[in-house]
Amino acid sequence: MRVVRASFDRIADRYDETRTYAPGVIERIVAAIERNLPMNGRILDIGVGTGRLAAPMRACGLDVVGIDVSVMMLEKAGGKGLDQLLLADATALPFADRSFPCSISVHLTHLISDWLKVLSEVGRVTSERYASVVTEREGCEVEEIRRTYEEACAELGHEVNHPGLRESDLARAIKPVKVVDIANSRETVLKADVIERYRTRTYSYHWEVPEQVHGHAMDRLEEIFRPVTSLERKERVYLIIWDVESVREYVARAGVGGLED
Ligand SMILES: C[S@@+](CC[C@H](N)C(=O)[O-])C[C@H]1O[C@@H](n2cnc3c(N)ncnc32)[C@H](O)[C@@H]1O
Repeated sequence: MRVVRASFDRIADRYDETRTYAPGVIERIVAAIERNLPMNGRILDIGVGTGRLAAPMRACGLDVVGIDVSVMMLEKAGGKGLDQLLLADATALPFADRSFPCSISVHLTHLISDWLKVLSEVGRVTSERYASVVTEREGCEVEEIRRTYEEACAELGHEVNHPGLRESDLARAIKPVKVVDIANSRETVLKADVIERYRTRTYSYHWEVPEQVHGHAMDRLEEIFRPVTSLERKERVYLIIWDVESVREYVARAGVGGLED
């Protein structure tokens, strides 16, 4: 059975304010996309969400088509002036073979157990390049909060995991043609804000945590981080670009069937 993490409808109103990049990073992401992807046609943003990236891409003159399974996320994207949006599933894209020179997905494939089918669809509808923008937070205090929350969940028998495979992990399975470093940022954020995001189950992996386990994990966060008022957030943001041919080869090797033509 295909598992899709519960609908993002529940977070649509708060999505943008809780998934921020450091100042100036969005502009650099869009510039990197423009410079490094073939722009002789449209770009497909799979799992476009609120248009966090699609809207600035569009503002720079790119011809962006976005698809998503969440009506409320799409409504937010529509409110930003994006007018080529479709309610559709990444595992069954409503487009003809090779309709787009390039496609992109950002923070999508880890949500979908049948991520191979997503890749199969990427390989079918895209002619040249597939890309993703990855944000890595390692060795910083904000990351420590996440680790503490997950460990506390595990103490009560709830393993936090994702049904699919992250785009960043995909880069280990399919060799990218290019990895473009975009930003290395270091910011100080208020601990109270970070904890509040956990308390209000802001991130998708919180949504399946049973109430009792969540309560235990929150008590643990409050206890361990009580003396702290601010936290350091370190992020590396980079663009990964794959040749779609290597995505097709990977899917074919994995036995999903590859292209239908
Ligand atoms: C973490 S958000 C990322 C949104 C956007 N790419 C960004 O970076 O802000 C994941 C998005 O993928 C969508 N999604 C999840 N499963 C999907 C599927 N099977 N097909 C299409 N979209 C899906 C969710 O509704 C959500 O809007």
